[in-house]
Amino acid sequence: MANKDVTDPARMEKIVSLCKRRGFIFQAGEIYGGLNGVWDYGPLGVELKRNLKDFWWRKTVQERDDVLGMDGSILTMEQVLVSSGHVGGFSDPMCDCPLTKQRFRADQIEPFPPGVEYTFKGAINKITNRQTGLGFTVLIPNAHPNKFEAACNFARKFYQGVFGPNSEPHLLEDDGFECTSGPQEGSFYNPENGVKLSEPRQFNLMLQTNFGATGDQIAYLRPETAQSIFVQYKNVLDSSRVKLPFGIAQVGKSFRNEINPRNFTFRSREFEQMEIEYFCHPDDGMRLTDEWLKTRLKFYEEIGIPRDTLHILDVPDGERAFYSKKTYDIEYAFPFGVQELEGVAYRTDYDLGVHEKGAGKSLVYFDEETKEKFLPHVVEPSAGCDRTVLALICQAFDEETLTDDKGKEDVRTVLRFKPSMAPIKLGIFPLLKKNEEQVRISKEIQKKLQPWMNVFYDDAGAVGRRYRRQDEVGTPFCVTVDFDTLGESGDELKNTVTIRHRDSMEQERIAIDALLPWLLERVRG
Ligand code: GAP
Repeated sequence: MANKDVTDPARMEKIVSLCKRRGFIFQAGEIYGGLNGVWDYGPLGVELKRNLKDFWWRKTVQERDDVLGMDGSILTMEQVLVSSGHVGGFSDPMCDCPLTKQRFRADQIEPFPPGVEYTFKGAINKITNRQTGLGFTVLIPNAHPNKFEAACNFARKFYQGVFGPNSEPHLLEDDGFECTSGPQEGSFYNPENGVKLSEPRQFNLMLQTNFGATGDQIAYLRPETAQSIFVQYKNVLDSSRVKLPFGIAQVGKSFRNEINPRNFTFRSREFEQMEIEYFCHPDDGMRLTDEWLKTRLKFYEEIGIPRDTLHILDVPDGERAFYSKKTYDIEYAFPFGVQELEGVAYRTDYDLGVHEKGAGKSLVYFDEETKEKFLPHVVEPSAGCDRTVLALICQAFDEETLTDDKGKEDVRTVLRFKPSMAPIKLGIFPLLKKNEEQVRISKEIQKKLQPWMNVFYDDAGAVGRRYRRQDEVGTPFCVTVDFDTLGESGDELKNTVTIRHRDSMEQERIAIDALLPWLLERVRG
């Protein structure tokens, strides 16, 4: 079971650096300074992400008789999100730091150590004689040797922000400040400097856009893929003539104006979700929630995220959404802590209920066998695609110390992806770049395999180094075309290649003709 308290920032730093160096993930707009909380996937990242999404789709839609797919629009009508509660309620309580202008989520602020709280009641700008009565409060920890001076320094910086960069703020004297012991009950402090934050204010997380010829129509970039599924539930039902229980699945982009995007791609402002809304009879909701939890855990095992790296949080009463009767969070032990990958939530008939009311159209289901009419309940397994990609990379990342024949040690960086997830399935190398026949056969193998999978031809440098480059991006197999392939050691090895396994580094010989079925058996997953 994942240990909640273990973090490893050094490991995370290496992973972020490898992601950039080898073309998995880049910050969006990096050459212009970067867009905070938004990421671009490079050539290898896009392959990894595509493998994950294709596998999810296969397991969730194609291999099941009871789940159908859809692809809803990103632009979402305001009325849809008014009914769902997002326009009025999809918000976080936020506090601002008056000094640094940082914004914090009130429910995530770390407590500040006890100390003395100084409240300043204003200052005067010595250059212009302008005076302000704006208050400023800072808490200085008891351990600080010079608390009053530290508080005055913070206050001067704050008033300089008020008067302007060339001002000389002079703090009001005599009755100009108060001190008391802190932290005060119900107050929030900047965890980095002790400055008292503003009262929490609700901050809506949705990204709004305007469109139409005059730009006067409002739409939102969807904050979750789920809503288009609820809104189209009746159309899918009527056009597909499915019966309960059945699910609708969708993979796609969602957008949230996260206040503190962080931990690499973990909390982003633009991200992809893989969601299933599973519609059922009200009597089956609880049982199906448990069943979906098991199904989803099996999925993670299949893509290479073992059960013992996952933690299941049975979200207690009072912490679940008010309409949810049961919610499990599936959490993964990232190097920055144990954090949510997916939620499996029993949402009752809340969603269909609010849309039925909002649109004024019946969404009732009629069971032809029992002649019962009811509003279906919903179980929702909702996974983050980017978070799962990040978990796959974190799980795969390994540094292995190797010792050669002379006792010299070397560290090999390997991404131990399951072959089904690996961005490149096979590296193809001619032993000698100058040997025309070896190059010709290597390129022939490449052309033969390309319609089936992503392979990579490489003839630069020593073979050992080419293996290492493939290890670092997680390629599970590499083949080398050598002199034996050309028949120089006799007919037995002619038209065979050496295949090298990434994890064991063992090598075996395989006929070129047998390569495709050999690989297909291993890379499909
Ligand atoms: N329809 C339910 C829903 O959207 P959620 O817990 O808000 O529930 C579901 O999101 C999943 O989407 C999360 O478990 C997470 O994997 C992913 N997710 C949510 N916000 C995210 C963000 N800012 N960045 C990356 N992934 C996010």
